Amino acid sequence: MDIKGVVLAGGTGSRLMPLTKVTNKHLLAVGKKPMIYYPIEKLVSAGIKEILIVTGVDHMGDIVNLLGSGRNFSCRFTYKVQDQAGGIAQALALAENFANNCGIAAILGDNIFKASLKPYLKKFAAQKKGARVLLKKVANPQRFGVAEVSKNGVTKILEKPKKPKTNYAVTGIYFYDNSVFNIIRTLKPSGRGELEITDVNNTYISRNQLKYDMLPGWWTDAGTFESLGVANKLVAKDPPK
Ligand code: DAU
Repeated sequence: MDIKGVVLAGGTGSRLMPLTKVTNKHLLAVGKKPMIYYPIEKLVSAGIKEILIVTGVDHMGDIVNLLGSGRNFSCRFTYKVQDQAGGIAQALALAENFANNCGIAAILGDNIFKASLKPYLKKFAAQKKGARVLLKKVANPQRFGVAEVSKNGVTKILEKPKKPKTNYAVTGIYFYDNSVFNIIRTLKPSGRGELEITDVNNTYISRNQLKYDMLPGWWTDAGTFESLGVANKLVAKDPPK
């Protein structure tokens, strides 16, 4: 299956106010680059050439000024506006026409990975249908989607549980077949008023179609002051491959 990339870079960045009062979270510096460079470079180094960037209307101009056509990243960019921050799954729904029956590697614009994503892209391409996620053991699972795992695979994912049953965070790289767009159409907004990517993943679990791998190397988001600080330190000490 052909696979296209999607970088989800909408949202309000409210946890980083006032840094995000006049700019987009994904334009903030991590090490010597804007944050959004890291997920883009991960997709490109995994072999993806066609990438859709989704962001809000307020900062689309700056994002296009920064990224351009994609020539400087050895890929081709398409851009889509998410009118309101209605959740990760809502942002992903905007990729339906772009996907044009291909598979999708969707990556969160504030997630930074040390390891190459190439092996997982390959495994997903080989599985032909369904979805694939990457899990990482973390010290603070309450901040993330948390996976419960049995010998048969992931049995359930809970979004930011107060009392997590495991410390396996679901990281922000998601591989989906084209049925993801029909799944998103069935979703209802969560308690925080968003269409949740965790609900998408739980639908794949209910169909027995969600595979996973454990992610090697460090991983962090950069969406809070604490994690932005961590991201800066990690990138300086041990740069992504
Ligand atoms: O970092 C991994 C975690 O990301 C996962 O473990 C969680 O299951 C997942 O829900 C998500 O959690 P957060 O609550 O931290 O996500 P956040 O709202 O910070 O959004 C992450 C990125 O998604 C953000 O950098 C931009 C994009 N996004 C988010 C929203 C709410 C959009 O493009 N549009 C949106 O409306």
